[in-house]
Amino acid sequence: MIGDHASEKLEILPVHELPEFRPGDDLTGAIAAAAPWLRSGDVVVVTSKVVSKIEGMLIRVPDDPEERDAARRRLVLEESVSVIAAKNRTLITENKLGIVQAASGVDASNVDKGELALLPTDPDASALALRNGLRERLGVEVAVVITDTMGRTWRMGQTDAAIGASGLRVLHSYEGQVDGQGNELVVTEVAVADEVASAADLVKGKLGGVPVVVVRGMRIEDDGSTARTLVRPVEEDLFRLGTAEAIAAGRREAVLLRRSVRTFTDEPVDQEALERAIGVALTAPAPHHTRPVRFVHVRARRDALLAAMREQWIADLTADGWTPERIERRVKRGDLLYGATEIVLPFLVREGAHGYPDERRAAAEKTMFEIAGGAAVQGLLVALAAEGIGSCWVSSTIFCADVVRSVLDLPASWEPLGAVAVGHAADGAPVARPPADPGDRWVRR
Ligand SMILES: Cc1cc2nc3c(=O)[nH]c(=O)nc-3n(C[C@H](O)[C@H](O)[C@H](O)COP(=O)(O)O)c2cc1C
Repeated sequence: MIGDHASEKLEILPVHELPEFRPGDDLTGAIAAAAPWLRSGDVVVVTSKVVSKIEGMLIRVPDDPEERDAARRRLVLEESVSVIAAKNRTLITENKLGIVQAASGVDASNVDKGELALLPTDPDASALALRNGLRERLGVEVAVVITDTMGRTWRMGQTDAAIGASGLRVLHSYEGQVDGQGNELVVTEVAVADEVASAADLVKGKLGGVPVVVVRGMRIEDDGSTARTLVRPVEEDLFRLGTAEAIAAGRREAVLLRRSVRTFTDEPVDQEALERAIGVALTAPAPHHTRPVRFVHVRARRDALLAAMREQWIADLTADGWTPERIERRVKRGDLLYGATEIVLPFLVREGAHGYPDERRAAAEKTMFEIAGGAAVQGLLVALAAEGIGSCWVSSTIFCADVVRSVLDLPASWEPLGAVAVGHAADGAPVARPPADPGDRWVRR
């Protein structure tokens, strides 16, 4: 139990008479001189811009507006580890500190015309150094928050947030505490350091006059946390990417999500998702603008089909001279379809195929339709994977076409293209694989 984070009342006091800071200046000394009235328990809130300046994070850029803008864009990318979203001229990036904000914090405000300011390299360390310095100079135990201005997802306008902190509990969790009505607070976690930063901005303003203010009256409860604690870990971030970037990543990964899944859970397959995937598969390319593929969802006749196919397989292996024991072992290993949640059979119907008098062109036409069938089945597997549904394409029906047609009561012109076992993978939802290294399978002539 750590009680309430709210204070009885707060004062927010500007620190006036600070100089214009330049690289190498003594910020601690300047604050100690301008605010000798600092007391233990105060929170000293400093705009990151002045920390950037004294730490030499100013970059000279050309005067020409276009060149200046190009330099700014280059710096934004250099300062980022990844681009989270891009819209028009705005880049939202994750910077080296893990902070997600516009333009990696690269800023042209409150600096000379020919300069841009980068964020301090380690604002938590800068906050600690200032805190230690103020203790040495004035004998006070203060907390320090270093701020930057950021937009907020879903909200208009910017507020200040803490990018560096030392000496205060930056997050105050109410988990397990009970409110006045007896309700247990389950998820409330207050970003105290960000609230301090925002409150301080009400006095600091943006026009450069007051880069340092003191928040007096807080219960600062130092727990050793720093502003780094406020950076949401990637794995807990539901909105890591912008919409456009997430869609692009999804598109790139769609084919790579597919893999052959051979064991399935009991979880039912969403029939609408299955139908959507069939619809996707039926958009596959095919010769002469034909639609030569059909899919059969095997349900009522499933047991009859699998039994008849097995019987045919055993007959084939017996004819090959296999012993009954060996046949039993082999057939047992071929039980994949029995364990599938759903079974979909693709068929090829050569409607619209051209006829040729010679064998060469007739064979080419035949191949053309077969590969179109393959494209549709691959489309089905990929569409299923994109729906989070596993599948495995197995060949068995190709080897017993008559049996399949007879049990399912299908025309003789329907040629089986195998079977697709469908269901949720026993070993978890599909994860995208890396693309293959093309190596000598990618040939240039
Ligand atoms: C036409 C065709 C027939 C296949 N037949 C079978 C099969 O009978 N049994 C099986 O377990 N996998 C079958 N597979 C799946 C391959 O074994 C599988 O694609 C391969 O092992 C690569 O694994 P991946 O799909 O996870 O990339 C077949 C694949 C294709 C394209």
